[in-house]
Amino acid sequence: MPREILVTSALPYANGPIHLGHIVEHVQSDIWVRAMRMAGHTVHYVCADDSHGTSIMLRAEKEGITPEALVAGVWQQHTADLADFGVAYDHYSSTNSDANRELTNQVWKALEAGGHVDAKPVKQLFDPEKNIFLPDRFIKGECPNCHAKDQYGDACEACGKTYNPTDLIDPYSVVSGAKPVEKESLHFFVKLADFEALLQTWLEARRAAGGLQSEVVNKLQEWFADGLRSWDVSRDAPYFGFEIPDHPGKYFYVWVDAPIGYFAAFKELCASGKKPELAPGDFERFTRPGTSTEMVHFIGKDIIYFHTLFWPAMLHGANLRLPTQINVHGFLTVDGAKMSKSRGTFINARTYLEHLDADYLRYYLASMLGPALTDIDLDLKAFEERVNSHLVGKWVNIASRCAGFVHKFFDGKLADSLPAAERARYAAAAARLAGCAALYESRDYAAAMRVIIEVAGEANAYVAEHAPWVLAKDPGKRDELHTVLTLALNYFRLLTIWLAPVVPAIAGRALAFLGEQPARFNAAAQPLLGHTIKPFHALATRIDPKQVAAMIDASRESLRPATPAPGAPAAKAGAGGVTAAVPAAPATVSIDDFARLDLRVGKVMVCEAVADSNKLLRFELDAGALGKRQIFSGIKAAYPDPGQLVGRNVVFIANLAARKMRFGLSEGMILSAGTGGSDLQLLEVAPGAAPGAQVK
Ligand code: MSP
Ligand code: ZN
Repeated sequence: MPREILVTSALPYANGPIHLGHIVEHVQSDIWVRAMRMAGHTVHYVCADDSHGTSIMLRAEKEGITPEALVAGVWQQHTADLADFGVAYDHYSSTNSDANRELTNQVWKALEAGGHVDAKPVKQLFDPEKNIFLPDRFIKGECPNCHAKDQYGDACEACGKTYNPTDLIDPYSVVSGAKPVEKESLHFFVKLADFEALLQTWLEARRAAGGLQSEVVNKLQEWFADGLRSWDVSRDAPYFGFEIPDHPGKYFYVWVDAPIGYFAAFKELCASGKKPELAPGDFERFTRPGTSTEMVHFIGKDIIYFHTLFWPAMLHGANLRLPTQINVHGFLTVDGAKMSKSRGTFINARTYLEHLDADYLRYYLASMLGPALTDIDLDLKAFEERVNSHLVGKWVNIASRCAGFVHKFFDGKLADSLPAAERARYAAAAARLAGCAALYESRDYAAAMRVIIEVAGEANAYVAEHAPWVLAKDPGKRDELHTVLTLALNYFRLLTIWLAPVVPAIAGRALAFLGEQPARFNAAAQPLLGHTIKPFHALATRIDPKQVAAMIDASRESLRPATPAPGAPAAKAGAGGVTAAVPAAPATVSIDDFARLDLRVGKVMVCEAVADSNKLLRFELDAGALGKRQIFSGIKAAYPDPGQLVGRNVVFIANLAARKMRFGLSEGMILSAGTGGSDLQLLEVAPGAAPGAQVK
């Protein structure tokens, strides 16, 4: 029975770039969507940027732009990164939209009308210089337990203890450096206890239907056992978000309007006319209680509470449908450890794409992803080996070894029929692969990949055994050759169809070579016979370990200009805490701090692009009395013609510790202004300054 399913991924915060941790989730959901469509279901796939909150407000202020301008710029980057990873949302919105404001107000009014809202005063730490209430992560101080300095307001990274920000010794605001004061203000609360019975029933139904993993059910039961506390859903101005109707100066906490953003994105999609099968009225059809349509969320393990308690409670309170499935994944680690900026393993999606093919990571992640909450490790060596041996060696190679002969001896045409033995082999392989549909559906992609690679192994054994390159030498064996090539290319086609959800770009090229674009798995049931194929072009090349090394180097490079101010808050607490750090407004420094930097004028003697790097230019500077300096600077995108810079004066930090890079020693850092990428301008020094002159 064809199903109608709305699928979402968690909305990435608009306070930093998409990184490979996010990619795990978007790739997991995208594979599922593609596979469910190939199985014949109707799927609508939406996401959005989560654009509200204190971090975004402060970052915009620091950059001297409005939050609206900040989130618009980030939206451009996020959508480009996701599209280039082959993640094909039907619609990608932002929570800062009219549709979302309207829906959020609607949900809120229903909660208020149902008597589920309380108001009570709350004491919170307040920055008296910035005049804002401080979220826990924007307060630091000495740990009350182990006395480690500079610990965040919610937990100590040294001893692991959690506490309230008011427990910190000598607390300070990371925004201004000021000592926070306690201040009282009225907050609104949603009474979650009102929904306990409903949530229990929903949980049991989902458990029975397989819509929640058992680990998640267990967590929920622990939370129920503790009793559900009311949820603080308001924040005071200044806040970047939606103002609460009839309560000037009070805003919805970002986690109120964020999940409602799933609905807003879908509502916009229905209204857009982008998909012929969706009309504006379908929004109501998908979101009313009792609908036969499904809603499936993909999220990381750090945001279970929000999705399994707050979100269903809000939906129920507003008389809307509840989620059908909440699929939770673990966190990405790289080479067995949490992603780390200093090791170069905190890899942004864009940095990866500048060095490697998106489908390679998609395949590797698929080979690692199962239905459990376990973390997923990106083992860089295994990544390289698996892509080279499976995708290139076992799959693409079948076509590259056989295509030429089909064109040379048979005018590019496959045989009209196959002998019984070959037909049986094909049928057996097709039947085995048909089992992958259920594996995709249950998100056991790793198991599906194992089946696919086993069949690919069989196909390669068949080709090796019948050695078409030997048969081709004997004109008396043309029929046999035709049979072997036809079955081999049908193995290839079969594997391509079943790999298509995982590696859509390579599979698209492979199917174009075969001269067809089947949209359904069931196209694989019958072999392709008497069909003319197109000329073969290389579909995928092996990963060179140098590409991986260059990506790691670039991940280290990309952080150098953006070193966060001391005390910059991480974007959020919770498991992993790996979201990109958001530099807050820099804390004030003394003149002595500034004097510690030895800034100098350097005259550019040599400037050239570094061949193996997408970012770097290599400079040799005449630094007067300091001698000659070699410096690598990540401004390649801004200066496509580096030779032009020879002869001009730049400003550089002369006493920065030298750093050994793959390309050589970098002895300092050249200053430029701008947001990065192609928007970087070197500082200009007025004529008359001598090389080596101090900048003070
Ligand atoms: N904005 C919220 C989600 C709101 S949903 C209504 C948020 N944003 S996030 O950018 O921090 O994370 C987005 C998703 O990426 C979450 O599901 C999170 O679990 C996931 N991941 C973030 N870092 C991750 C890894 N290192 N590994 C795997 N997933 C990770 O939370
Ligand atoms: Zn401590």
